[in-house]
Amino acid sequence: MERNVKDKLILTGISGSAEMSKIYFAPMEGITTPVYRKVHKKYYSGVDRYFSPFIVVTSTHNLKKRETREYIPFEENMTPQILTSGGGDFAWAAKMLKGLGYREVNLNLGCPAATVVTKGKGAGLLRDKDKLRRFFEDTFSESDLPDISIKTRCGFVYHDEAEELAEIFADYPFKEIIVHPRVREEFYQGTPDLKSFDIIKSKVKCPVVYNGDIFDVHSLKECLEKEDGVMLGRGLLRNPMLAEGKEFDVKDGRIEDFLDELYDGYIRIMSGERDVLFKLKELWTYLITGFPGRDEDYKRLMKASTGTEYKAAVRRIVE
Ligand SMILES: Cc1cc2nc3c(=O)[nH]c(=O)nc-3n(C[C@H](O)[C@H](O)[C@H](O)COP(=O)(O)O)c2cc1C
Repeated sequence: MERNVKDKLILTGISGSAEMSKIYFAPMEGITTPVYRKVHKKYYSGVDRYFSPFIVVTSTHNLKKRETREYIPFEENMTPQILTSGGGDFAWAAKMLKGLGYREVNLNLGCPAATVVTKGKGAGLLRDKDKLRRFFEDTFSESDLPDISIKTRCGFVYHDEAEELAEIFADYPFKEIIVHPRVREEFYQGTPDLKSFDIIKSKVKCPVVYNGDIFDVHSLKECLEKEDGVMLGRGLLRNPMLAEGKEFDVKDGRIEDFLDELYDGYIRIMSGERDVLFKLKELWTYLITGFPGRDEDYKRLMKASTGTEYKAAVRRIVE
């Protein structure tokens, strides 16, 4: 059995216990689908918990079929994430998911997209602090909720919003808070603001998990030493073995089977090769960082219009 980065930290005395150093796979809309999660779990280890990309819940409580596939059938070690503008609607979804066996449900307070924010969802909920409080009042006035965690940015426009946000968060019984320390206006630009992260950590009463720009083993280890846990997004897309404490190495031999199985998994559930290629090409925008000097083959991969062309391009890149 492969030792993962946490076992190594514990063995070397850097980390005290597995409890202290959880590794989560971030929700990535359109990429970390049930197919991706299943195949990643099969080939790579080290991730304690996966999160579904956001599931949109509106006041009608009618979920699109595409969205229900995120959480049906039940998936072990997966926390479904909800994107909604109403605390009552969130509580409804959380209880519905609890009924399906999910012990924890996560609320998205980070999505920066204009179409989301203008509807008062995602990072849009961070803009008006009174509304945010009302959201949580409406949520926690319900009984029979599962554990609730949140994934948040540290402000809407300014980093010094972190303090007020933390005071609000501290008033509610969250199981855990995952903080991506950028404000909404930054989207994914600039560097994460560790000061805002520490302010939130110092004021809330539950475990706080760090998320943002952890792309290599060194930064991962540093983060695991300091924090309750770390959530990895683009780092794991670029290097699917990052949670094992290993830099990407094509010679490790798993990547080709991993990609083949992803392709097969998508072909089974999507309507045609074009859609499958579109999905896999998006993943390749991250994976390609592990293959320096393969620009020509990468261009060919991006131009592939059939599964055969795509697979031939993949073989050239990984061989
Ligand atoms: C393509 C893409 C899709 C994302 N989808 C979601 C999502 O569905 N829910 C969410 O909370 N965050 C989402 N995020 C944000 C990531 O979960 C994560 O917070 C962000 O990428 C920063 O972490 P990283 O630097 O480790 O990638 C998305 C980010 C990207 C780039």
